[in-house]
Amino acid sequence: MIKVITYGTYDLFHYGHQRLLERAKNLGDYLIVGVTTDDFDKKRGKINVKQSLMERIESVRATGLADEIIVEEYEGQKIDDIKRYGVDIFAIGSDWVGEFDYLKEFCDVVYLPRTEGISSSDIRSEYRSVNLGLVGNGNIIKKFFDESKLVNGITVNAICTDNEKEKKCYENEELSLIDDYDELLNLVDAVFILSHPSKHYSQIKKALNQGKHVLCESPIALAKNEYVELEKLASENDLILMDSIKTAYSTAFNRLLLLIKKGNIGDVYSVDATCTSIREYDDKSWNSISSWGPTALLPIFQILGVDYKNKTISSLILEDKPNFDLFTKIDFQFENAVASIKVGNSVKSEGELIISGSEGYAYVPAPWWKTDYFELRYENQEDNKKYFYQLDGEGIRYELVAFAKSIELGKNNAYVENQVSKAICKIMEDFENNEFDIINKY
Ligand code: CTP
Repeated sequence: MIKVITYGTYDLFHYGHQRLLERAKNLGDYLIVGVTTDDFDKKRGKINVKQSLMERIESVRATGLADEIIVEEYEGQKIDDIKRYGVDIFAIGSDWVGEFDYLKEFCDVVYLPRTEGISSSDIRSEYRSVNLGLVGNGNIIKKFFDESKLVNGITVNAICTDNEKEKKCYENEELSLIDDYDELLNLVDAVFILSHPSKHYSQIKKALNQGKHVLCESPIALAKNEYVELEKLASENDLILMDSIKTAYSTAFNRLLLLIKKGNIGDVYSVDATCTSIREYDDKSWNSISSWGPTALLPIFQILGVDYKNKTISSLILEDKPNFDLFTKIDFQFENAVASIKVGNSVKSEGELIISGSEGYAYVPAPWWKTDYFELRYENQEDNKKYFYQLDGEGIRYELVAFAKSIELGKNNAYVENQVSKAICKIMEDFENNEFDIINKY
């Protein structure tokens, strides 16, 4: 018996897939089809696959051509599968010519001519793409622009920036460069806002009032009531309002939260997050609490909840600018736990995250906010476990996918819960109201 194996995503199953499977089947007596998981596709840069793994498997099954369907989950799995199933022929479309020659050591490799004129990507792009406008300056805007190219269903068609130097980066791109926010809103379906936090509330309100979806760099507002108002406005108008905290979209960070919620380090007694950098600052700079606070607060509110009993804020502030902190430390007391953040734009410390529990602790090394690796450590060192998950595009890519999916489904698919966003805005409000102890003036 000749065994043939082939792999694919099979999203929105089409005629090209059908023909490929028919010809692969005709090469032998027994056909194994490997369907790739969403995670594996994300790692390969194929993103925003429309159908779930189960739906895609079902499409392959429905052809009746596969004698066996398997799931492809990890790099290097093809060699394992070929050995495990005793495969004679590996078949794949001609778009992959040469890529799988390394398998010739284990079986025959056949590249079948690809069916012209059809692909999942084409079908996906027929779904209307969301026109996204980017608002603000800085390298994050450029990163969003670059990452948007890897996400189906989102096209950056306009950028609003007043920075002439940055405008030059986009000179050869097909998009409108605009100085005026109102003008930008006329051109887009959705905006990503990275302006100074003091402008967020009014810019978001304007966008929502004009029927535009909003993804905003956290914090969404500098007062809790402002957040509540914006959230209500979005939901009343069936619009998506999403808090942009890249770390929330890292696979490793999500995996870490899951393991902690499952009890892998026992009961959590302390969450301590540090995010610092040393940056030049001027009048347009974000203070430390608004630039780093949301990220540092994320694991605390996601693990311990938002109902803390007490907190104290201590800040190192500028002599002539009382709301501009160079460094801030916040200590929280919860019912059965404590937590702390240390954030600073002018003080440097070890950027680690430590979550202490009754049976062990989670350690995420610096810079933990770009999480791709963490460890669970125990009294008995032999029980320690290391976890690594690829982080593509600093989380921006998956954040854009979640935003696009939310708009498509009309349902907020955000990884930062509303109550977390609200609690972050409350911290900003307390800081704005000078509810902090002064460590020193600089
Ligand atoms: N295939 C084919 N002819 C097509 C499209 C796909 O022969 N017109 C083959 C691919 O070469 C591969 C298999 O079908 O062997 C599964 O391809 P997959 O990547 O799932 O489909 P694509 O349509 O190529 O998807 P995308 O556009 O996302 O790359």
